Amino acid sequence: MSCAAGWACHVPLNPAGKTERSTERASAPASAIVTICPIQNILCRDSTYPTQRGLPTRRHQVELQMSLKMVEQREPEEMPRPHGEYRKEFLSRVLAFKPSSILDVGCGNGASLQLFGEADVAHCVGIDPEGEAVEEGRALGLEIHLGRAETLPFPDQSFDVVTLEYAAHHLENLHRGLQEAIRVARLGVVVLDCWYDAAIPSQLAAQLYDEWIKVIDRRAGLVHNPCPQPADLAAPFLTAGFRIDYSCRLFLVPLSVSQIELSARQRLHEIPEPCGLRDDLERLLDIARLNGLSDDGAIILSAARGG
Ligand SMILES: C[S@@+](CC[C@H](N)C(=O)[O-])C[C@H]1O[C@@H](n2cnc3c(N)ncnc32)[C@H](O)[C@@H]1O
Repeated sequence: MSCAAGWACHVPLNPAGKTERSTERASAPASAIVTICPIQNILCRDSTYPTQRGLPTRRHQVELQMSLKMVEQREPEEMPRPHGEYRKEFLSRVLAFKPSSILDVGCGNGASLQLFGEADVAHCVGIDPEGEAVEEGRALGLEIHLGRAETLPFPDQSFDVVTLEYAAHHLENLHRGLQEAIRVARLGVVVLDCWYDAAIPSQLAAQLYDEWIKVIDRRAGLVHNPCPQPADLAAPFLTAGFRIDYSCRLFLVPLSVSQIELSARQRLHEIPEPCGLRDDLERLLDIARLNGLSDDGAIILSAARGG
């Protein structure tokens, strides 16, 4: 197995050639070294993936690629968060389409529209239902529409590429939102969203925490769903005959369990009847104290029209 340039490799291979994950336990105490290096973990290629799910047996390249970056021994608070890396890959997948126009769905105040513009994409448009964010972006001269992913107010194939960056898990109806993206995209759709590998103990704790927080948000009336699984994102594209290429990325960056506990207990105070939530929190904190807690990974999916 070869490692990406500049990344240290500390993952032993077992006799079957599979990467061992035993070093993961090291994410627990701050004194431990969290390691690891890229695993080329090809889950499925070509028709295996759609066949398994009873979907059309077209040739699709579907690839799960986990990259666990070597992190030196430091206090969790000092660790850089990994989201910049995920966004870089997302951007390069978007630009790979060589788009002249992009619609960013759930664009917030349009931060990514600015990046697309800096990368010489001629026509960058955003849409978001949050009035305040839309106004903020418009004040910067960005073209942002007020609206929702589920009913895009644009004609068929009116943008080269449609993007959803950390918006998928906010949609009331993800399937409908992706169908709308498919309708409006001429060349392709690129999605970036959070992803956890629950087989890794510190990720399990992080996923439980993520879902716990989202229960509180939903009680407060927000749409905040669990992170979409690759199959959730892939389904509408496969049905529409798109060619899919996705990666799941994970930089195992530890988070401070005590800081998470502090903010979780503050959130509990907002809840009128937190009974079950309190028990769930204690359970997930036990897991986190035992195994550590690591920052979210990402799924980056690009879907190209025309297979
Ligand atoms: C986590 S923010 C991501 C913002 C931006 N894309 C980014 O990456 O910085 C999620 C965004 O999705 C938007 N959103 C929520 N529901 C939506 C919907 N039904 N359709 C489109 N966007 C939605 C929110 O208003 C919010 O701006």
